[in-house]
Amino acid sequence: MTLPALPFAASFMHPLMMLGLLAAGGYSMFLGIKAKKVRTGTPEQRKALLPGKFAQRHYRWGSLILAVMVTGMIGGMAVTYINNGKLFVGPHLLVGLAMTGMIALAASLAPFMQQGNVIARKAHVGLNMGTLTLFLWQAVSGMEIVNKIWVNR
Ligand code: HEM
Ligand code: HEM
Repeated sequence: MTLPALPFAASFMHPLMMLGLLAAGGYSMFLGIKAKKVRTGTPEQRKALLPGKFAQRHYRWGSLILAVMVTGMIGGMAVTYINNGKLFVGPHLLVGLAMTGMIALAASLAPFMQQGNVIARKAHVGLNMGTLTLFLWQAVSGMEIVNKIWVNR
């Protein structure tokens, strides 16, 4: 099947979106850690942090990050397929799929965490800290692809 050619700039949408998402992920981690402090801190700490509404803000940013990661990954695959007529089953694709799966699982635990389930809470934090760690590496392999596209333009 012949696919329509995309403008060159289309190759940079996914990288830009994902670099923004990396920053948002770091911010969401900060909000999550504050939410934990609200839950576990001393009475004075809790009172001081409560007006920050960290748990609610973390949940909202988390939902946004989940949505952007899913659409961004599908977008990256779509652009790659349109430009090359195939996908490259390499580290960037596989780690991207793993990250997206992990953050989706972590998000699915939200209702259980809110009921105070400790296992769900630990799994949520572990999965998402893992996702953010992979994200750092994904940014490196992603920038290598950006470099390749630029050099071969
Ligand atoms: C960017 C990656 C994320 C990181 C690093 C992260 C980290 C955390 C941390 C550290 C906590 C506090 C756990 C505790 O209180 O012991 C937390 C709580 C929570 N997270 Fe996340 N999270 C992320 C993404 C998400 C997503 C995608 C969602 C859902 C869409 C979400 C929903 C929640 C909820 C509902 C809580 C419980 C808040 C409460 O105490 O009521 N998080 N998260
Ligand atoms: C953080 C910075 C990132 C950069 C700079 C980046 C860069 C890129 C580039 C340049 C492409 C090739 C697009 C084309 O052929 O025009 C690509 C493909 C792709 N990206 Fe990313 N990316 C990043 C993050 C992510 C993340 C977080 C995910 C998934 C959650 C992801 C998933 C994918 C997938 C699945 C492909 C298709 C891979 C293939 O078939 O080779 N990327 N990315």
